[in-house]
Amino acid sequence: MKSIENISYHNIYNSIKNDTSEILNGLLNKQQKQISSKFFYDETGSILFDKITKLKDYYPTQKEIEILDDNRKEFYDYLPSDSSVIEFGSGSNEKIKRLLKSLKKPVEYIPIDISKDFLFKNALHSAKYFPNLKVKAICADFNQIKSIKKLTDSSKKKIGFFPGSTIGNYCPSDAKKLLKSFSNILGPDNFLIVGVDLKKDKTIIEKAYNDSEGVTELFNKNILNGLNKKFNTSFDSDNFNHKAFFNNEKSRLEMHLVSNKDHSVNFINNHITFKTGETIHTENSYKYSIENFKKLAGTAQMEIKKVLKDKKSFFGIFFLKVVSF
Ligand code: SAH
Ligand code: AVI
Repeated sequence: MKSIENISYHNIYNSIKNDTSEILNGLLNKQQKQISSKFFYDETGSILFDKITKLKDYYPTQKEIEILDDNRKEFYDYLPSDSSVIEFGSGSNEKIKRLLKSLKKPVEYIPIDISKDFLFKNALHSAKYFPNLKVKAICADFNQIKSIKKLTDSSKKKIGFFPGSTIGNYCPSDAKKLLKSFSNILGPDNFLIVGVDLKKDKTIIEKAYNDSEGVTELFNKNILNGLNKKFNTSFDSDNFNHKAFFNNEKSRLEMHLVSNKDHSVNFINNHITFKTGETIHTENSYKYSIENFKKLAGTAQMEIKKVLKDKKSFFGIFFLKVVSF
């Protein structure tokens, strides 16, 4: 078999200790119990998310792909040639394949994701599909990646790609911090291309997170199975129901797991107790107006150069340029 020479693998995600204290804090010390949505993404979680992206009810992926397909010339004309493309929270290859095909001679592709096996598998597909591209797959938490600067080719222009509206999974103040840290990695005058789910009729949003095939329910409950595997906890996902609703005041979709009985769960010598009806908040998915996202990017020292939308204006792809600092 021919070996693939245009790929390298790097694992800089090694924070079991930090993760343990983060989870304990979220389940023991908060009035509203919570688990960070980054814990959705073990191998099973990534496969379930991939299934979600193919559901009729889950419009964000269809709309973002529509924008990528309908605006190939915009990407070609606007973005620099011979660039190094860094993708934050890369997931599957569907979107990056389209972006890379639209760009002028990209030389390097750096997918970064927390879900190691899924990342490495997809990065290998990319390396095979684009034999002239150097692929560097980095397993990392993109909140903690200052050190990736040394893995990138500093002589190249950089294009950051942050699709999927993953930015919406952070509250605005954390989203601002994340954008700032991406600016830092990319450097002045480079671009960050961000996918953002836009505000719309809440029934459309709620349907996307309460899909008729029940895949989002499985995805939500799987966060508990993931914790059991990683931290040896004793969650039984049958003791919880899926709940997803739009919080108008905060302009965000919230996902929760609702305990359907009084029970307790062991977590490293701690008993976490649940009353019937009590919830664990597992995810926020903020929906922005174009104006509000522009404001957010402005506070993170980025200039909006262009906004592309799908025909129904459900989703936006923003071209942000890092201003000089
Ligand atoms: N970009 C893909 C996937 C979006 S799902 C798309 O647009 O469809 C969110 C992705 O980000 C998942 O692949 C998940 O594993 C990854 N992710 C979530 N939190 C992360 C974190 N803190 N650091 C790195 N990757 C993360
Ligand atoms: C990855 N993220 C942007 C998705 C979202 O829509 O917030 C995750 C997801 N949760 C439920 N369905 C999809």
